[in-house]
Amino acid sequence: MTRRILVIHGPNLNLLGRREPEIYGSLTLDEINRAIENLGNELECVVEACQSNHEGQLVEWIQESFGKYDGIVLNPAAYTHTSVALRDAIAGTGVPVVEVHLSHVAKREDFRQHSFISPVAIGAIAGFGLDSYLLGLRAVLAYLDKS
Ligand code: DQA
Repeated sequence: MTRRILVIHGPNLNLLGRREPEIYGSLTLDEINRAIENLGNELECVVEACQSNHEGQLVEWIQESFGKYDGIVLNPAAYTHTSVALRDAIAGTGVPVVEVHLSHVAKREDFRQHSFISPVAIGAIAGFGLDSYLLGLRAVLAYLDKS
């Protein structure tokens, strides 16, 4: 059975490439999406990616994923640390979510130390740049294979 995975990028990730490259690296979002798509092809799953700066749009994509996607790889970006709405959408929708971050958030500012998303995610991967997404894709597929 071909798995369908949705990759959701949160706010400001459209700026990747020129956004604080010392923290987030120099790859653009398009380059990241291409690498995820290549891995998706290799692993024989269908991967679609989307990005929004708007919390409500992210909530809608999570809600609409039910029945359309088997799993989600989500970088909630700044909403990680603020959004009860995203947390509730994940809990209410029930589609398995892997939380990913480019940077190693545990090593960063205090305000980044709390995630509203982690308690409702099946797991979290942070600190590996592009590889956080690639590992996230492998993780959600491994989870689906076991469940
Ligand atoms: C981020 C980490 C967040 O704290 C930050 O607000 C981001 C990106 C990451 O991928 O490292 O926008 O999610």
